Amino acid sequence: MTPEWKISPGLSVVLGDITKMRVEAMVNAANSSLLGGGGVDGAIHRAAGPELLKECRSVGGCPTGEARITRGYDLPAAWVIHTVGPVWRGGDCGEEEMLACCYRSCFSLVEERGIKSVAFPAISTGAYGFPARRAAGIAVQEMILALEKGKSLKSILAVCYSPESCQIYLDALEACRKQR
Ligand code: APR
Repeated sequence: MTPEWKISPGLSVVLGDITKMRVEAMVNAANSSLLGGGGVDGAIHRAAGPELLKECRSVGGCPTGEARITRGYDLPAAWVIHTVGPVWRGGDCGEEEMLACCYRSCFSLVEERGIKSVAFPAISTGAYGFPARRAAGIAVQEMILALEKGKSLKSILAVCYSPESCQIYLDALEACRKQR
């Protein structure tokens, strides 16, 4: 049983492996080549199978802050939304705005395709070194906005890979609720 905290209508924090999530689309924390890597990127490509890489090759890359959509192949999700998060360089190079752009770019594709459910990893908080608390604050803000504005979107899973990361998301959601 995957531990899950239902926070507000449509938004859940889930502890687990994003490749196991039963959603229409899962977001990949990719690099600008879109040709695979470690972390989430490696897990998604392994679970999706070689067809995913083949389609990614045809996409021709993705700039930081933007997103591209492909099929999910052997994943439980019909779609993979690849986004390229900012590398953390200390916080004075527009990293926070760029991370927010990643979430907005993903949600634009979700709305374009009429996707109802999407799972996100904690973009940029692994290899790219973005401080987890600051990233979670940006993520939950964009997720709540997307649920309020969205037409097709009904469910977002914020998938955390450790109990600590879950707690960070729960704290971020609490802080967001207090601000509103
Ligand atoms: N499911 C859910 N979350 C995961 C999984 C998984 N299977 N694997 C890792 N994570 C978590 C990490 O613990 C981290 O919190 O996802 C978050 C993002 O970590 P990374 O995957 O390292 O992504 P990022 O920090 O955005 O770095 C992207 O790493 O893998 C390469 O090709 C990728 O160059 C790109 C860079």
